[in-house]
Amino acid sequence: MKGSVKSISLIPISFCFLFLFRDEFAVPARHLCHPEQREAILELKNEFQIQKPCFDRTVSWVNNSDCCSWDGIRCDASFGDVIELNLSGNCIYGQLNSKSSILRFQSLPFLATLDLSNNHFSGNVPSSLGNLSKLTTLDLSENAFNGEIPSSLGNLYNLTILNLSQNKLIGKIPSSLGNLSYLTALTLCANNLVGEIPYSLANLSHHLTFLSICENSFSGEIPSFLGNFSHLTLLDLSANNFVGEIPSSFGRLKHLTDLSAEENELSGNFPVTLLYLTKLLYLSLDDNQFTGMLPPNISSLSNLEIFYIRGNAFTGTLPSSLFSIPSLTCVSLKYNQLNGTLEFGNVSLLSSELVDLRLGNNNFVGSIPRSISKLVNLRTLDLSHLNTQGSVVDLSILWNLKSIEELDISDLNTATAIDLNAILSRFKSLDFLNLTGNHVTYEKRSSFSDPPLLRELYLSGCGITTEFPGFIRTQHNMWRLDISNNKIKSFESPKKLRQSSSLDYFSGASNNFTGRIPSFICELRSLTVLDLSNNKFNGSFPLGKFSSVLQALNLRQNRLSGRLPKKIISRRLKSLDIGHNKLVEKLPTSLINSSSLEVLNVESNIFNDTFPSWLSSLPELQVLVLRSNAFHGPIHQTRFSKLRIIDISHNRFNGTSPSNFFLNWTAMHSIGKDGDQSYGQYMGTSYYSDSIVLMNKGIEMELVRILTIYTALDFSENEFEGVIPSSIGLLKELHVLNLSGNAYTGHIPSSMGNLSSLESLDLSKNKLTGEIPQELGNLSYLSYMNFSHNQLVGLVPGGTQFRTQPCSSFKGNLGLYGPSLEEVCVDHIHGKTSQPSEMSKEEEDGQEEVISWIAAAIGFIPGIAFGFTMGYIMVSYKPEWFINPFGGTKRRRISTTRR
Ligand SMILES: *[C@@H]1O[C@H](CO)[C@@H](O)[C@H](O)[C@H]1NC(C)=O
Ligand SMILES: *[C@@H]1O[C@H](CO)[C@@H](O)[C@H](O)[C@H]1NC(C)=O
Ligand SMILES: *[C@@H]1O[C@H](CO)[C@@H](O)[C@H](O)[C@H]1NC(C)=O
Ligand SMILES: *[C@@H]1O[C@H](CO)[C@@H](O)[C@H](O)[C@H]1NC(C)=O
Ligand SMILES: *[C@@H]1O[C@H](CO)[C@@H](O)[C@H](O)[C@H]1NC(C)=O
Ligand SMILES: *[C@@H]1O[C@H](CO)[C@@H](O)[C@H](O)[C@H]1NC(C)=O
Ligand SMILES: *[C@@H]1O[C@H](CO)[C@@H](O)[C@H](O)[C@H]1NC(C)=O
Ligand SMILES: *[C@@H]1O[C@H](CO)[C@@H](O)[C@H](O)[C@H]1NC(C)=O
Repeated sequence: MKGSVKSISLIPISFCFLFLFRDEFAVPARHLCHPEQREAILELKNEFQIQKPCFDRTVSWVNNSDCCSWDGIRCDASFGDVIELNLSGNCIYGQLNSKSSILRFQSLPFLATLDLSNNHFSGNVPSSLGNLSKLTTLDLSENAFNGEIPSSLGNLYNLTILNLSQNKLIGKIPSSLGNLSYLTALTLCANNLVGEIPYSLANLSHHLTFLSICENSFSGEIPSFLGNFSHLTLLDLSANNFVGEIPSSFGRLKHLTDLSAEENELSGNFPVTLLYLTKLLYLSLDDNQFTGMLPPNISSLSNLEIFYIRGNAFTGTLPSSLFSIPSLTCVSLKYNQLNGTLEFGNVSLLSSELVDLRLGNNNFVGSIPRSISKLVNLRTLDLSHLNTQGSVVDLSILWNLKSIEELDISDLNTATAIDLNAILSRFKSLDFLNLTGNHVTYEKRSSFSDPPLLRELYLSGCGITTEFPGFIRTQHNMWRLDISNNKIKSFESPKKLRQSSSLDYFSGASNNFTGRIPSFICELRSLTVLDLSNNKFNGSFPLGKFSSVLQALNLRQNRLSGRLPKKIISRRLKSLDIGHNKLVEKLPTSLINSSSLEVLNVESNIFNDTFPSWLSSLPELQVLVLRSNAFHGPIHQTRFSKLRIIDISHNRFNGTSPSNFFLNWTAMHSIGKDGDQSYGQYMGTSYYSDSIVLMNKGIEMELVRILTIYTALDFSENEFEGVIPSSIGLLKELHVLNLSGNAYTGHIPSSMGNLSSLESLDLSKNKLTGEIPQELGNLSYLSYMNFSHNQLVGLVPGGTQFRTQPCSSFKGNLGLYGPSLEEVCVDHIHGKTSQPSEMSKEEEDGQEEVISWIAAAIGFIPGIAFGFTMGYIMVSYKPEWFINPFGGTKRRRISTTRR
């Protein structure tokens, strides 16, 4: 389908250049190629490495033969000049040197087409390319060119096609590209380009038919001069940082057939100027910030086939005229705030072309409209979150849709149960079924002879209390199965599940499973994610061998006992969470064979071991939680190059640490930059998210998903002694630091003043002496701190952050004083009387602190300080203002099947 495969390569464009013309009508007497041109090409062959598995066109390039007959070379028939050099997809490695033979002045004076696309070229795009003055086509796409686009390309006045997409180019578009006034196609997609679109590009208005600059970081407004590009048929601005509205000049793009503007920060009402574009076939505005109602006359887009506006904030009712567009094929309105009842308008006009209809996650109310049964070609139907207000849902309306492959009718808010047998017996092609959040029933003795071969089934939160039905035939084709959040006790026929050779994802979390973990689990050989957390499984850790491709294993919150097996769980393991069980003795060192391990969480067990410093040989380890076990002894200096979150609190670790202890914990020194692939993303795969519980700002907080830039260090409630290592000041990315409840002595290291990202600092209940370093007063993100119960003296630093702490953060010391202290102790009295008490969690000390940091966060701290982590994470205790801004930001959607 057009929308899901984004073509970045050039579409064939009919254009006619002089040399081809000459070629066709020239006298057949062919000239041999010129020796100096042959020399230049032969030299080129030695400039790179060519590797398998490509068919290497340069094999035919041998000296003393006519170069015009070589693969990838074309000559002008009359004069024998080389006019085309095409080495696309030739597995070439290396750099295109500025002194390369073909770029030397006049070495190929008539070269019109240079196609080096789809190789492995690295290094800069040489500016000497600008010397190839006869070029009409330059294609360097799908390589690894880096650096800026040389402005000398603006000298290639005769260029009609320029394709630099899918490289690693940086910087701005050079304004000199505006000189290329004969360009018909310009493609810069999938680079790291920035800045605004230069005004000089307005000169390209005469011939440009194809402009594609998607997947960069272009910013600013979309320039309104694009509306003058009267020949434009395709415009792709998607996945950039464009702001503002779609310019009203766009209504003049009469030939436009494809407009992609998804994944930007565009706003304003639906751009009604687009309604003039009667040739438009494809329109995508997904994932922007558009608001307001959809225009009632949307059917002016009379040739529209694909209409994607998901992930905006459109309101109002669904314009029924939309469904009178006869060519309409795919529609996604998901994740908006459309309301009213669902209505498809004049049934007789209903488009029979419609194959893909996604209306889920809006505020529609009422029942499923009867007219839906006319959409007989539907293959995908998403009505999730249609609020039927507790009414009876008559699924028989859907029985006419015999081609349905994907059906999402989750969260219908219906009073009646949904009959799984009925659905499965009607839809023979069903591949994907999401009934999450509905009450689902089924009969075990099912009458159908041939239930569909589902690949994905989601039955989370469906109130299922009986055994998991054996009729769900999962063998061979089931790929993802989610039966979490029910009250299922057992599987009716594990034998059938055993044969599920393709099951990749299985979640049975939060059910009422008891007994041992069934052995069939270990026979699911394709499983990559297994989540059986929050059940009552007991007995020992399963002894069978797990799937060798298992990446995530979550057995948290069960009653597993005994030792962990010594053998390897899976070499591919990325996440292992066995927290809150009753596992004993030591961590098996076989874990070091899982060299991809990123998350290890064994909290709240009875492990009795010394610090597993061998974990430092896990090159990818990012999260380590040993909290609340019986770990003991000293921690020797070690190296954790990727570790970002460590919680070893509530154990019996002891001893002193040398001052350079944190020297090699480099991931906490500095985190990857914006632009790195994983920067600011959540950990885990697209369908599995690791969660973790941490103490932050004095309260226990659940990170439902772990952001790759979140950092925390919790050594609290152990028996550490000696001086706090001054190298702690190197951990500049740390957001949470908790060393409370140890026996640290000496001064608070002034290097802590370098912890510029710190939001929460707890040093309470130690034996710290001296003053609180004045440097801490400069930490502008620090919104929670606790110095209580030490032996501190002297002046408490000034600064807003100190002034907004509750008095209790300083109490139990020898002699702290200062204006900020007096101020907070006054504030503290006010805080206590004016805040309503809603929290029951930490009754005594805790409660007042909870309230005061929330108050502080809302009242005093600059918004950004607060937003930095708290905004990016979701917490189990969720006031309304915890919005997750990552929901809407850039996430590459390379090949999603679902929109
Ligand atoms: C090609 O052959 C010519 C003469 O036959 C010779 O001068 C030249 O060096 C050769 N080139 C290469 C690259 O071998
Ligand atoms: C562009 O092509 C035309 C026709 O081949 C030629 O006369 C002209 O010199 C070229 N322009 C440049 C800058 O090379
Ligand atoms: C639907 O949304 C519009 C615009 O936000 C609002 O004015 C209207 O009251 C809403 N209608 C219903 C039934 O909620
Ligand atoms: C199934 O529906 C639930 C509730 O609407 C939703 O959160 C979930 O993402 C859906 N699952 C898939 C795989 O689309
Ligand atoms: C869970 O199972 C136990 C017995 O195994 C039973 O007593 C309990 O009622 C079940 N809980 C629910 C919610 O079904
Ligand atoms: C840990 O194991 C040692 C012996 O290996 C034992 O003496 C000690 O009591 C154990 N600690 C706990 C808390 O079980
Ligand atoms: C820490 O890193 C330095 C070099 O960066 C290295 O010489 C030293 O051995 C490392 N220390 C440990 C304990 O890995
Ligand atoms: C650390 O604790 C162990 C017991 O787990 C004890 O034998 C050892 O002496 C302690 N070390 C220090 C430095 O206190």
